[in-house]
Amino acid sequence: MKIAVVHGPNLNLLGTREPEVYGRATLEDVNAAVAELAAELGVEVTSFQSNHEGGLIDHVHAAAAGVDGFMVNAGAYTHTSIALADALAGVARPYVEVHLSNVFAREPFRHRSWLAAGAVGVISGFGVDSYRLGLRALVENIKRKVP
Ligand code: DQA
Repeated sequence: MKIAVVHGPNLNLLGTREPEVYGRATLEDVNAAVAELAAELGVEVTSFQSNHEGGLIDHVHAAAAGVDGFMVNAGAYTHTSIALADALAGVARPYVEVHLSNVFAREPFRHRSWLAAGAVGVISGFGVDSYRLGLRALVENIKRKVP
């Protein structure tokens, strides 16, 4: 099984970006934690980060044929991007939405997600563990659907 991890805008700054909100782990740390769990679960993962909406959309289009699902932290595009939601719907692969912070405990504009309705599920507020939980849940969900 192959899962593509997609990180949206500003997540390249993890480690130094608002550490009181997002913690001290860098994006490299997040990817390493995901890769470690992926090895344990026997799944392959790729990781991609972009600060550009179109770059994320192009990646979803390009990666979709070769993967069983996506794990997406779209950053602020979660709350704004109908285009990214359309891209994920368009490629028809299951995806899990993850957030480091608990978006529902934050500003009201973070309470809306354009991606959530099409997601298998949403995990928010557990820091790096959001990605670990997300990967586990997505892999289980995909396995259950395969006859
Ligand atoms: C985030 C939450 C978003 O609201 C924010 O814009 C981010 C990060 C998170 O992982 O907690 O960039 O997706």
